[in-house]
Amino acid sequence: MIGPQFSPDFMAQLDLLFRWRRDVRHFDTRPLAAGLLDQLLDQAMHAPSVGYSQPWRFVRVCTPARRNAIIAHVEQENARAASLYEGGQRTAYDALKLHGLKKAPEHLAVFCDIGTATGHHLGRRTMPETLIYSTVIVIHHLWLAARAQQIGLGWVSILDPAKLIELLDIPATWQLVGYLCLGYPAEAADVPELEREGWEKRLDHQHTRLQR
Ligand SMILES: Cc1cc2nc3c(=O)[nH]c(=O)nc-3n(C[C@H](O)[C@H](O)[C@H](O)COP(=O)(O)O)c2cc1C
Repeated sequence: MIGPQFSPDFMAQLDLLFRWRRDVRHFDTRPLAAGLLDQLLDQAMHAPSVGYSQPWRFVRVCTPARRNAIIAHVEQENARAASLYEGGQRTAYDALKLHGLKKAPEHLAVFCDIGTATGHHLGRRTMPETLIYSTVIVIHHLWLAARAQQIGLGWVSILDPAKLIELLDIPATWQLVGYLCLGYPAEAADVPELEREGWEKRLDHQHTRLQR
């Protein structure tokens, strides 16, 4: 065996990490410990990327004016999304909490630089979307790294990327992939909130595969 070997204890902990990673929408307002965000981003950057392009770009949104403008925009988009549901589904939608932007101490916008020269375009000719996939993976690495340090991450997608790009004054080749909240969670759960709220259930893996 080359490289580190992982002990049964570690494997059990890793399993817990997968099972207890949650999309977090309830935060306490305590700031992240000094240096922790840098440490998490450093870990996340070990994510794979097409052609080793590392196309992810992070924007830490700090100013109250920008944070508040984004919160107002998400609330507007959320109201628009709610209006698409009717009857019982509308009632159920209204009961969901779909972001923790107000309390989360950190807002992080994650972009993909589709114009990056890093990686010399290797692997991107046939599937240019792999740049975006690479950026999604870095977010997932960040998600797990954060959970391992008791930091919750919530992914907010009820927004218009063009509006975010305008509010954050972003370079032309950067495409928004995710808007994230990070902070100490106000609760822990091994079941997704949408499942606890009766919105959706976890699929059995047998139902998500075919054999050919
Ligand atoms: C691409 C992506 C976008 C998401 N957008 C939102 C969102 O806008 N609001 C929200 O509350 N959750 C959002 N989520 C979180 C999902 O609702 C959550 O992952 C799912 O319900 C399963 O829960 P879990 O992450 O706690 O396992 C998003 C997740 C992903 C992967």
